[in-house]
Amino acid sequence: MPLRVAIIGAGVGGLALAVAPQANPNLDVQVYERATELKEIGALVGVGPNALRTLEKLGVPDVLTDEVGWRSPSGIPMIFKHWRTGEILSTDQYHNVPDHRRHYARRHRAKLQQALLKRISRHIIHLGRKAESVKAIRAEGVTVNFTDGTSIKADVVIGADGIKSKIRYAFVPAHELTWLGDVVLRSTFDYSLVEDIREIPQDSSHFSGPNGFFFGTRIGSGGFGVTASFPVDSRNDGRYKEPVWNAPASVDTLRERFKDWAPVVPKIIDRVPRVRQYANVAGAELEHWSFEDRVTLLGDAAHTHGGAFATGVGLAIDDAYALGLAFDHVFPAAVAIGAMSPTRIREVFDLYEATRRPHTGKVLAVVHETRAKTADRLQKLFAGEPETDEDFRYRLTHRGDPVWVNEHDVEAAFVKVLEESASGQATPNTQVEDQVQEQSRL
Ligand SMILES: Cc1cc2nc3c(=O)[nH]c(=O)nc-3n(C[C@H](O)[C@H](O)[C@H](O)COP(=O)(O)OP(=O)(O)OC[C@H]3O[C@@H](n4cnc5c(N)ncnc54)[C@H](O)[C@@H]3O)c2cc1C
Ligand SMILES: *[C@@H]1O[C@H](CO)[C@@H](O)[C@H](O)[C@H]1NC(C)=O
Repeated sequence: MPLRVAIIGAGVGGLALAVAPQANPNLDVQVYERATELKEIGALVGVGPNALRTLEKLGVPDVLTDEVGWRSPSGIPMIFKHWRTGEILSTDQYHNVPDHRRHYARRHRAKLQQALLKRISRHIIHLGRKAESVKAIRAEGVTVNFTDGTSIKADVVIGADGIKSKIRYAFVPAHELTWLGDVVLRSTFDYSLVEDIREIPQDSSHFSGPNGFFFGTRIGSGGFGVTASFPVDSRNDGRYKEPVWNAPASVDTLRERFKDWAPVVPKIIDRVPRVRQYANVAGAELEHWSFEDRVTLLGDAAHTHGGAFATGVGLAIDDAYALGLAFDHVFPAAVAIGAMSPTRIREVFDLYEATRRPHTGKVLAVVHETRAKTADRLQKLFAGEPETDEDFRYRLTHRGDPVWVNEHDVEAAFVKVLEESASGQATPNTQVEDQVQEQSRL
């Protein structure tokens, strides 16, 4: 009997995982998604060199075309401009990305979801199934109950249900998400709406200031995307008491907040047809991603980094790839599965976590350090002491180089973990523990 793997959530992470182990007859993968249809939700997402390489390995090459993704003609992944003067203050650079197709590509989130869906047989995707509770018993398996009254049993459950993960909550109820008070407005629309603006940037441009940012970029499939953020005093401003995620908002708010910015910014905003509002919430690093040797987490559910580095999609795709590699290593397609024990599932989870946690842990460390500084800055701002232009310029030009995120090689990390565990450097204390447990049960 194949291992029954239930993925909760058909976001980018869940779908990438459903693609990854598809050819392995030892795995029976099913995906459960609360939405009743996978329609166009979200706005623009950036897909960095790391994730583009992974998507190519996953056999989703159509996401690499210039038709679907827009790449800055300058060959620069990100350009930071002064909010008011528009002068270039800082740029990111590629370190080792000779292939143009792996250059940072901006696209609509839905296009990525659709490309992944094309590689998955539709009958394994179950829509309108919102997980409500989950229970794992190590020696038996996992039960998931859905809000429609149905339930499933599986050998393994993967919580790929996003930053507010129910699966995570079931096992780590004390984990908290906090909001700093930054409102993010997003929109995507036809490029034709802004095409005639003389200064319209062809390179993805991040206008940055002490009071937020405005990111405007062409995106694939003839689109244009805007992501803009500004701080609000959520304790004293009644309009922004709670962090709102994915709700309609007013273009007038955008217009008002950015009216003094470099001239091209208000010109673009004038053409924006509609916006939706999001809030970046974040939470601490988890101590464990896996529970009862039956359940693990993936993507935003596992690392609540809250949009930092604009790399949520990339991290989720690489998580999925690492977990797929770990499954294939422990349950190789060419070998019949044989006796199934939680110990072997634990081996999968150990490989997965050893591959991913050092990387995502580093991301979270940077996120929380940055958030602490931002909270400080906002406190001063609301007390009437905004950051000076000089301090702002210093902060922006002394950003860290995000190459370790953008060009991370998940497969190399996985191979290194395997080599280390073969040479006994890692800590597979699971075997010992399991022997103890198995013996105590005899
Ligand atoms: C509506 C939406 C819009 C987004 N827009 C952007 C954007 O414009 N730019 C950007 O950079 N990032 C955006 N993101 C975040 C980005 O998609 C993620 O950071 C990244 O893709 C990691 O994805 P994930 O698969 O871990 O989680 P997600 O993409 O959040 O996917 C989680 C999936 O799980 C489903 N789900 C949640 N709870 C349950 C449950 N109880 N039972 C069953 N299914 C459940 C959700 O419906 C969703 O399909 C958006 C996310 C969402 C959900
Ligand atoms: C699922 O629902 C059944 C029937 O209502 C209940 O007995 C069981 O405890 C629930 N399981 C979980 C994990 O909540």
